[in-house]
Amino acid sequence: MNKIARRSFLSRTIKMGVLLPVMASPAKLLAANGNDQIATDIPDRVILTITPDPSTSITINWRNSNQTEASIVEYTIADAHPEFVANVNKVNATAKPFKYDKINTVNNRVTISNLTPDTLYDYRVGKENAWSEWFQFRTAKSNTATAKLSFIYLGDAQVGIKPLWSRVIRKAYATMPDAQLIIHAGDLVNRANEDNEWADWFAAGGYIHASTPTLMTPGNHEYTHEDGKPHLSVFWNEQFALPTNGPDDTLLKGSCYYTDIQGVRIISLNTQMIEEAPNEGCIGRQVAWLHQVLKQNNQQWTCVVMHHPIYSTKKGRDNKKAREHLKPIFDQYGVDLVLQGHDHAYARGMNKVSLTNGAADSRSGTVYVVSVSGSKMYETEPMEWADVIGSHLQVYQTINIDNNMLSFKAYLATGELFDAFDLVKAKGKQNELINKK
Ligand SMILES: [Fe+2]
Repeated sequence: MNKIARRSFLSRTIKMGVLLPVMASPAKLLAANGNDQIATDIPDRVILTITPDPSTSITINWRNSNQTEASIVEYTIADAHPEFVANVNKVNATAKPFKYDKINTVNNRVTISNLTPDTLYDYRVGKENAWSEWFQFRTAKSNTATAKLSFIYLGDAQVGIKPLWSRVIRKAYATMPDAQLIIHAGDLVNRANEDNEWADWFAAGGYIHASTPTLMTPGNHEYTHEDGKPHLSVFWNEQFALPTNGPDDTLLKGSCYYTDIQGVRIISLNTQMIEEAPNEGCIGRQVAWLHQVLKQNNQQWTCVVMHHPIYSTKKGRDNKKAREHLKPIFDQYGVDLVLQGHDHAYARGMNKVSLTNGAADSRSGTVYVVSVSGSKMYETEPMEWADVIGSHLQVYQTINIDNNMLSFKAYLATGELFDAFDLVKAKGKQNELINKK
């Protein structure tokens, strides 16, 4: 149906009064208010996803209606002269129809390679008469032996996404506008296959999703259990094209992968496929892969992103399987930072965490962080492992790495500094943690 035909269909429908009864439905009301649930020719849900080498490549994902002809990406090195639009590179999108429930759209993706490191690019997606705006993003610097990286980390958005999570991602972006990466540690939404919630997640982030490369890992809420077994959201791998350098297991596609960016290896793990793995083989493949990725790691710093925390913020919220499988590996290879979600509270600890199978006074040197960015909150209690714990607060984090120094800051949704520490790396020694607040 072309645009004019659709318009006349809509006006007929309105005249017939057909839309009036559905205006009372909250979901439909959102659509009527302009929330981008209904895909059109104009691209929406534009998001940059991380690649294994963000200094030379980027992946762009977006959605449009199933009536849309082939879409493309136009891109070029950014230029303040608006005339740049006349001389750009063009790449055809890979378009995949997406049909689920009442949804009938097209998901598009393009990975652009051979980009110049540390360079600002302009791009837009769509087709003639149906373009997105021009977005800008910067490629990472070439990987060097000395780390230098700034990024944002967000815990569960999950609930209150549009009304209350929006202010958090926006404040985070305002605090660190040149972040080279935004990390989401799972439970982006509450109901894995609910299009309204994904619409809210994209609306809340808006152009931030399209301007800063994103690295996300799924949480338990990105899974459904229709037949009693966990199934990853039908949206996940359709709307996010994530690196394919993970284990050879379809159950781990789009959730286990890594990237090397400016001296930092960032690894996404899938703890749902440990806590609720349908078979031991799946756990074994993830664990074996993690060993390899850490053994062959030539980056100065190592950061793991996963959903279920190794240590929780309340007794009884224990992820024993994840801890037993992963903690010894983090210890063995000296992972520096583990960014987690799931507990709907804030906590971090290092100095009271001992080495697995080590002496009582042995210390691992790994900082474990739990955080939450959405509005769902759980109670906490004093936990032996935690140096800092906080509850009923929406929080975002910025991380700055400069050579052997990592500066971690946790801010409240209001922008007030809530927690801060430095982590100092010295060769052959355990990391030293310095409290800054
Ligand atoms: Fe969770």
